[in-house]
Amino acid sequence: MARVLVTGGAGFIGAHLVERLVADGHQVRVLDNFSTGRRSNLDAVRDRIELHEADLRDPAACDRACRDIEYVLHEAAVPSVPKSVAAPRDSHEANIDGTFNLLQAAVARKVRRVVYAASSSAYGEGTEGPKHEELCPGPLSPYAVQKLTGEHYLRAFCTCFGLETMSLRYFNVFGARQNPAGEYAAAIPAFATALLRGQSPTVFGDGEQTRDFTYIDNVVHANMLALQVPRTAGEVVNVATGQRVSVNAVIAQLNELLGTRIAARHVAPRPGDIRHSWADISAARRLLGYEPIVGFAEGLARALEYYRTLV
Ligand SMILES: NC(=O)c1ccc[n+]([C@@H]2O[C@H](COP(=O)([O-])OP(=O)(O)OC[C@H]3O[C@@H](n4cnc5c(N)ncnc54)[C@H](O)[C@@H]3O)[C@@H](O)[C@H]2O)c1
Repeated sequence: MARVLVTGGAGFIGAHLVERLVADGHQVRVLDNFSTGRRSNLDAVRDRIELHEADLRDPAACDRACRDIEYVLHEAAVPSVPKSVAAPRDSHEANIDGTFNLLQAAVARKVRRVVYAASSSAYGEGTEGPKHEELCPGPLSPYAVQKLTGEHYLRAFCTCFGLETMSLRYFNVFGARQNPAGEYAAAIPAFATALLRGQSPTVFGDGEQTRDFTYIDNVVHANMLALQVPRTAGEVVNVATGQRVSVNAVIAQLNELLGTRIAARHVAPRPGDIRHSWADISAARRLLGYEPIVGFAEGLARALEYYRTLV
């Protein structure tokens, strides 16, 4: 049994990690300011975790959260490209200053390892082929710059202070609990709920942009492996499925699952969005022994079952 802090544990990905850690018998603390996270995400485990309702931007709160902790899964962030374009300072403070505060607290409190929710957005446009970790990053949005800066800080804290760190670059994660509401909703929850309501999903651009949509169970699996490997030293590792799917194909598959034929409404592309995103996952295989455990089609069907319960 390990003592694990999950920052952003009330959010979409964080809550899945918390549930898994609790189920595996670990002692879990959550730090979350509930800006996008929801209390209901923790309902099932509420009496088995320690909850710090606090903000990463507060160094003292980070220090309290790291006390007696061995491992940190750092998921808390303002996790949106368009939000970072609309309000770059807000996301800068949470994503860069917050990560820095957490790392300082982790060193001061002698935490063993920090595993960080990094983002595929760090790559930018670069290549149409699969993106591997040796490619030179080309972040296009404030969010991408912020998440990439976090990776560099993790590596520097490993080199300079001996904190074991690893950055997992997630590629477009989807699954139950991902919020479908509002102008910043991610693609799959927004498409699924629109179609379930009989409405046309809104697509930014022509829909031929591609993503390596990654079902949540794969991300939880990768995090568990990152906790278990004997040592980490600031590595950056893609977490994805290694397959790419176009946005138009996602909508076609959802229509097929639902037995509908609803066309998308296309609007102008958004600034900061990239055209193609597809992962090479050989580093995850080599360093973590990772293999995707749920493929895209199966994940999409499972996610759709969740969105049915909301509509
Ligand atoms: N969802 C994806 O496709 C994806 C892809 C790449 C990387 N990521 C990264 O994964 C992590 C989790 O993303 P998510 O999709 O679960 O988003 P989410 O919004 O559901 O979760 C983020 C959590 O962080 C909390 N939070 C935000 N600012 C905070 C602060 N200053 N102090 C304390 N808590 C704060 C929120 O309340 C929320 O619970 C983020 O770091 C994000 O950048 C997500």
